[in-house]
Amino acid sequence: MSAPNIETIVSLSKRRGFVYPASEIYGGLGSSWDYGPLGVELANNIKKSWWRWIVYERDDIEGLDSSIIQNRLVWKYSGHEQTFHDPLVDCRDCKTRLREDKLDRDANGKPVCSNCGSTNLTESRPFNLMFRTTVGAASSDEDESALAYLRPETAQGIFINFANVLNTSRRKLPFGIAQIGKAFRNEVTPGNFIFRTREFEQMEMEYFCRAEDAPRLHQEWIDGFQGWLESLGLSAANLSLYEQTKEELAHYAERTVDIMYRYFPEREDESKQWDELMGIANRTDYDLRVHSKKPEDAEGKRINPDSTEDLSYFDTATNERFYPYVIEPAIGVNRTLLAVMMDAYTEKTNEKGETRVILKLTPEMAPIKVAVLPLAKNKPEIVEMAKKIKKDLQRSMRTVYDDTGGIGKLYARQDEIGTPFCVTVDHESLEDNAVTVRDRDTWEQERVGTDSLREYLQKRLS
Ligand code: GAP
Repeated sequence: MSAPNIETIVSLSKRRGFVYPASEIYGGLGSSWDYGPLGVELANNIKKSWWRWIVYERDDIEGLDSSIIQNRLVWKYSGHEQTFHDPLVDCRDCKTRLREDKLDRDANGKPVCSNCGSTNLTESRPFNLMFRTTVGAASSDEDESALAYLRPETAQGIFINFANVLNTSRRKLPFGIAQIGKAFRNEVTPGNFIFRTREFEQMEMEYFCRAEDAPRLHQEWIDGFQGWLESLGLSAANLSLYEQTKEELAHYAERTVDIMYRYFPEREDESKQWDELMGIANRTDYDLRVHSKKPEDAEGKRINPDSTEDLSYFDTATNERFYPYVIEPAIGVNRTLLAVMMDAYTEKTNEKGETRVILKLTPEMAPIKVAVLPLAKNKPEIVEMAKKIKKDLQRSMRTVYDDTGGIGKLYARQDEIGTPFCVTVDHESLEDNAVTVRDRDTWEQERVGTDSLREYLQKRLS
């Protein structure tokens, strides 16, 4: 089982402290969300898993953390100033602002307003998605020389640092550079909770290689990412691949495959249940070329007269100099978090006929690994023992202590937030130095001695 719809996750998130509407006490701000105590842990677990898999478990990838605000020229030469647009239309009848390329068409191929069904729409016009800002104390909003953008993708920070990383890490092709960080897009139609927002976080990796190796490596990353996503707990049945058509490809891409997740299982039409979780693109040598000072156009003019660096690669084995191709797997932290929560969501009925929510997160994803619960909070010896166990476990795994309710309520709360194990300290524990360990998924309980508790939990969590 997984969540029947996104709304179920919105309400669980608010109720238990995963994600809250941003600026809520001032009426909110469309499509902005804040990550609460559990949400920040889950997001960190996703990022740690990605970084470990991409950077630590391989020998050919380096990390990077580049600036959100860069020289405006980065976005001129990347093509974003010219082409990072969405086609915007307004409905003349209900005044809704819409993204034309996302609208259904009527029998004559005319776009239909998704709000009121009218086809009385304005002409489509391009709307640049980059957030503008000004840099420097004396600048005014109109001062073009002070204009800067919040980055709309983390990728460009990697391309402009290609020579820096290459030279300092002494890498040879193929190798990659990985980065996690915030990106900003002034989306025309944000929505569906944290699926499409104006501020979000990306995990991107640019894998530099020779042109002839690019198609094979592209396929390897597509396969690899499906495996990694499944390791986060996503079921294969809720993942699918989508090959972008020639018309859909970004200006820099030769081939892009999206990994789709079933975010909308409630929709009758199966084809409308899916949306993009991530994209894996073969960006060719486009990016390194456009940021380099050397390449020339057909008339012999430098295509980039502003760059001070040539981002080509010299292969000492073949004595060749060329611009490497790039394979780019790009995934959003927020969309991953939504998919992980949806897939983990289950309901179970207890012997009293009450339905309980269980978030079956993998131990790696679970925000809290163990909850230590005293059976009687008015008995100081039990409380003391429970707090001591919490302190001891905390050194090796995220552990919480909770005595704010009866044991049934405490179990239910931990099930709902995905805590794999609850450890209960009872009257007997004071005599036999043992505790009850309860499994989130089976509700089975086992008696374990406090001396071996840490090793027991570590083994079951790994
Ligand atoms: N550098 C390539 C790139 O940025 P993209 O497909 O535009 O490609 C990559 O973005 C991923 O970032 C998406 O697959 C999605 O997971 C996430 N993403 C993009 N726009 C987003 C938004 N407005 N809100 C949340 N996540 C977003």
